[in-house]
Amino acid sequence: MHYLSKSVTRPFLAALALASVSMVAVHAEDAKPALANSLNTDDKSAEPDDKLLKKDAAVKVEEGKYFDAEGHPTFHITDAGKKFDWYTYSGYRRYHAECHVCHGPDGMGSTYAPALKDSLKHLSYEEFIGILAGGKQDVSSSDQKVMPAFGDNKNVMCYSDDLYVYLKARASGAMGRVRPGDKEDKPEAAKKAEKECMGG
Ligand code: HEC
Repeated sequence: MHYLSKSVTRPFLAALALASVSMVAVHAEDAKPALANSLNTDDKSAEPDDKLLKKDAAVKVEEGKYFDAEGHPTFHITDAGKKFDWYTYSGYRRYHAECHVCHGPDGMGSTYAPALKDSLKHLSYEEFIGILAGGKQDVSSSDQKVMPAFGDNKNVMCYSDDLYVYLKARASGAMGRVRPGDKEDKPEAAKKAEKECMGG
């Protein structure tokens, strides 16, 4: 567990404890749906949600990483929605490497997995990290849809905050279905944390 950054270690451990009791760990490779999903392209809910935008607003920045009033990581988009903080940009990239096969491009959802641009309207930071690490399975459903546990996947867990802030930006409507172009430079702190987390 040496690869976890300090900010994820505690919720991550709590999630692991939960995971070992009630959740089913599946490797992403095994669970990928064989066919392309029919994608949800309706992005009406990406309209800016003033309440969420206020709640998620960055009130503090530490070495290029932004935090909301509750002390959770958050996005920081400037220049009339065109310039992205490093973590939101990084989260966009990681999402489209690790999550979009099931959850659809831009967090829009698919027939296989829910639209995370909607889920992140109500999921807390701790719940998000817990599900990411421990997975989730809808036991009431007969069609065996499984969210894999990524707890041992560094390509996901080392970037859990990045994924969280990107999906928060989508959920609040701060970010539409766009590919981030202009971005803040990668902070030294991000380089250091990445190196420590990836164990290199
Ligand atoms: C193999 C397909 C698959 C992959 C890959 C995948 N997920 Fe999931 N995910 C699911 C399914 C299916 C569910 C719904 C599980 C349930 O509720 O029963 C889900 C649920 C979730 C939830 C809970 C949503 C809610 O409304 O409760 C979150 C958060 C989540 N996934 C995040 C991610 C992130 C972030 C990634 C990329 C690192 C990812 N998932 C990759 C299939 C996947």
